[in-house]
Amino acid sequence: MLNVSEIQTFEHDVLVIGAGGAGLRAAIECSARGLSTGLVCKSLLGKAHTVMAEGGVAAALGNLDRRDNWKVHFRDTMRGGKFLNQWRMAELHARESPDRVRELEEWGAVFDRTKDGLISQRNFGGHRYPRLAHVGDRTGLEIIRTLQDHAVHKGFGIYMECTALDLHLDAGRIAGVLGYWRESGRFVLFRTRAVILATGGGGRAWRITSNSWEYTGDGTAMAYEAGADLMDMEFTQFHPTGMVWPPSVRGILVTEGVRGDGGVLLDSRKERFMFRYIPEKFADETAATEEEANRWLAGDKTARRPPELLTRDVVARAITQEVSEGRGSPHGGVYLDIASRLPAETIRKKLPSMYHQFKELAEVDITRQPMEVGPTLHYFMGGVRVDSDTQMSTVPGLFAAGECATGMHGANRLGGNSLSDLLVFGRLAGIGAEQYVKGLGAAPRIDEEQVRSAVRRATAPLNRDAGANPYVVHDDLQGVMGRHVGIVRTEAELLSALKELDRLKRDALGVKAPGVSQYNAAWHEALDLRSLLITAEAVTRAALMRQESRGAHTRLDFFGEREEWQKVNVIVRKAQDGQMETRAETRPGPPRDLAAIAHASIEDLEAGRV
Ligand code: FUM
Repeated sequence: MLNVSEIQTFEHDVLVIGAGGAGLRAAIECSARGLSTGLVCKSLLGKAHTVMAEGGVAAALGNLDRRDNWKVHFRDTMRGGKFLNQWRMAELHARESPDRVRELEEWGAVFDRTKDGLISQRNFGGHRYPRLAHVGDRTGLEIIRTLQDHAVHKGFGIYMECTALDLHLDAGRIAGVLGYWRESGRFVLFRTRAVILATGGGGRAWRITSNSWEYTGDGTAMAYEAGADLMDMEFTQFHPTGMVWPPSVRGILVTEGVRGDGGVLLDSRKERFMFRYIPEKFADETAATEEEANRWLAGDKTARRPPELLTRDVVARAITQEVSEGRGSPHGGVYLDIASRLPAETIRKKLPSMYHQFKELAEVDITRQPMEVGPTLHYFMGGVRVDSDTQMSTVPGLFAAGECATGMHGANRLGGNSLSDLLVFGRLAGIGAEQYVKGLGAAPRIDEEQVRSAVRRATAPLNRDAGANPYVVHDDLQGVMGRHVGIVRTEAELLSALKELDRLKRDALGVKAPGVSQYNAAWHEALDLRSLLITAEAVTRAALMRQESRGAHTRLDFFGEREEWQKVNVIVRKAQDGQMETRAETRPGPPRDLAAIAHASIEDLEAGRV
């Protein structure tokens, strides 16, 4: 019998799992508050999906347009999220983002500047004013670099290339985490009073995604297995512009900053098709003609924003429709043109990564030719349900922040709001964890039998002579999600997906990865399957339950938003019998003051009447 005391063990007050922006910010906060803190990274420190938020961090600094303030940012966020956002989270986010950006600057982030020396801000979809503080098109990278530099002086434990597998509870509260070192395959046990999940989303359940290999829904699945509620899982964001060619780079992100800086979307006839897709709700703030859109770009404040800057859900659907109606580019996307809009030198200066990315990966010079782009699975609006102020989940001692938490973005996230989200809520999760840990009595205990059974489950694929190949199961899953749980969905497709997921779950239970655990990549793949499948099933079941189209969730059989569904969130939970259950839960009504801001006219907001 495995002797648990022989497993390498570390002890902390708080263990943060995930070392992207949210995890780093949370760990910095915990450590600054005197908690013994550990930070677990599946990959190397600094390699995180945060870097894929390229175009900027949204904060109402008002540097380029004095009319901007937290209320307008809040209003934009609620409208973009189709009013399904948790009101308090959207409020906290809009109020606190400017301080978090200024704090980053104090910690060494080098943002691009205006002529007057202020932090420069660019336009992005759904944001009324230029609001995205940026570092060329490498903003996420600069944020990670800054947080990392700041963090290394805090003296907390950093556990790299370590995958967390299971959360362990004592009387329903967090007690520890079992993980393994990816290099040696040896297990590691963390005894801890609180856990902050910051593991991002589960984009790897789809084939065309901007997510890299780490994003297999680990935090979402661990929380689910521990009994936490998941929420809003049906809302998966397809970023409108990923690379479509060559096949090896399909899905890699093309920043929205291209459109923010004036790039336009064209069909195969080189027509600017977005004018045909302006939703009625946004008609009051979207230019109806090219002439007006161009005036806006030239700085005319009486003109309205170009339709390429509509929210991501709208743009991604429009591209999908263009392609399905035969007006796509040769490789199944549409064209994104910046070459005819900006001088080559400006493009290279403002969008250096895009310039190199296309030059090196697709042999396209974006200063001379249009790019070919199409939607790519980019972000989960859904995830672990948390309290808006503390970020604690429904399991005591378990917190979540950043993409793996939910509530902030509602049915659709505005670009740039992820970077500010992870700063604001990473910090709040740290504060929430401190309060929880300080209020905790005796240290929780780890049940050794639970650990033994987790180790047995994890090592099973190593000991099988026969069974499915984990890579094939993963590939199959990506095919299922791409075919049946894409940008547009129907009941029949979602039911087919569930049937196929059942088959894949059976296969995954019997996968083999024979050999030793050191350097056994097939074993890593086998272990990731559980998280991928839980995440994929949660998305599919939630999508089946929500019988309307809202934001990033489009049901062809339930067209348009329905009033009754605005009042509910879909909750996913592990039932007593081990099955996944979904239920529609009524949301509390909005606070009156916030509802007034969200529904105010822009004129009233600007004039300070609300
Ligand atoms: O397009 C982008 O630069 C991505 C930003 C984001 O997802 O927030």
